[in-house]
Amino acid sequence: MSESRSRIFVSRSLSGIAASDPLLRLREISEVDVWSGSKPPEPEELAARTASAHGLLCLLTDRIDEDFLQSCPQLRVISSMSVGLDHIDLEAAHRRGIRVGHTPGVLTETTADLSFGLMLAAARRIPEADRFVRDGQWTFARRWDPDLLLGRDVHGAVLGVIGLGAIGRAVAARARGFGMQVLAWNRSGRSHPGVERVALDELLRRSDFVSIHVARTPETLGLLGPDEIAACKPGAVLVNAARGGIVDEDALAKALASGHLFAAALDVFAEEPLDPMSPLRRAPNLVLAPHIGSASMATRLRMAALAVENLIAGLQGDPMPHQAR
Ligand code: GLV
Repeated sequence: MSESRSRIFVSRSLSGIAASDPLLRLREISEVDVWSGSKPPEPEELAARTASAHGLLCLLTDRIDEDFLQSCPQLRVISSMSVGLDHIDLEAAHRRGIRVGHTPGVLTETTADLSFGLMLAAARRIPEADRFVRDGQWTFARRWDPDLLLGRDVHGAVLGVIGLGAIGRAVAARARGFGMQVLAWNRSGRSHPGVERVALDELLRRSDFVSIHVARTPETLGLLGPDEIAACKPGAVLVNAARGGIVDEDALAKALASGHLFAAALDVFAEEPLDPMSPLRRAPNLVLAPHIGSASMATRLRMAALAVENLIAGLQGDPMPHQAR
């Protein structure tokens, strides 16, 4: 092992996403140590394995906080295979001169596909229909019932997009293809063709479907609390494939149980995995998914490649394709 080669810790094996090794380029220029556990490293294991590393390739399940950074004095670059960076204390990293990369752009369309799919699944009760057939409830007597599994039309309805970044805009584009009217609210005041920008309370009051696309920040935590959920149009459908903690989960479970909301779909949760005691597990008309927004084979490969590119650029002192500011 040459003295001058950088040491890299990769916090999860990526061998399951591709036939070829996604870390090949990294291995050519550095000493790569890959976590081989079947579950993510515990904080102390992550710190111990990164203690002498110059670079870290991590996932959103790794908490990168002040304590962690303190224990990794050599660390110069962190590359997260995620668009979201709420697991990393960016300020603490910047203070130490550590560059942080992430993977926006490559997962935009795939995540928008999932958001839109969840919206269709919740509106048309597709998971419930699947269970109905599998459980043998589809009997001769009910082979075509006028009131069987009635849902809500997505086409022609009003969609409220909360957060008009790349993923929010990609969801809006899909919605226009379905003949939906698209409203949007975002903190930056950014506008977008074909989208009517409105205040958050107006969006909630007018939207048949509400889809969330903001990052989790101190400002967006609890953005849809009990009051905002109560302000939703009766019979609305709520979708969140952005980050947990943005929607108040107790208030959502109550709004589904009371019938104020027709349905909801969640890919993200305040605590992941979802607590077995969470009221969401018992909530009616709720579609649940295990944080799979970017989980297509092609996109996970692109995310890994971009995370590697960010890491290499960072280690070489070059501009990163996507550096967090
Ligand atoms: C997924 O949630 C991501 O941030 O990439």
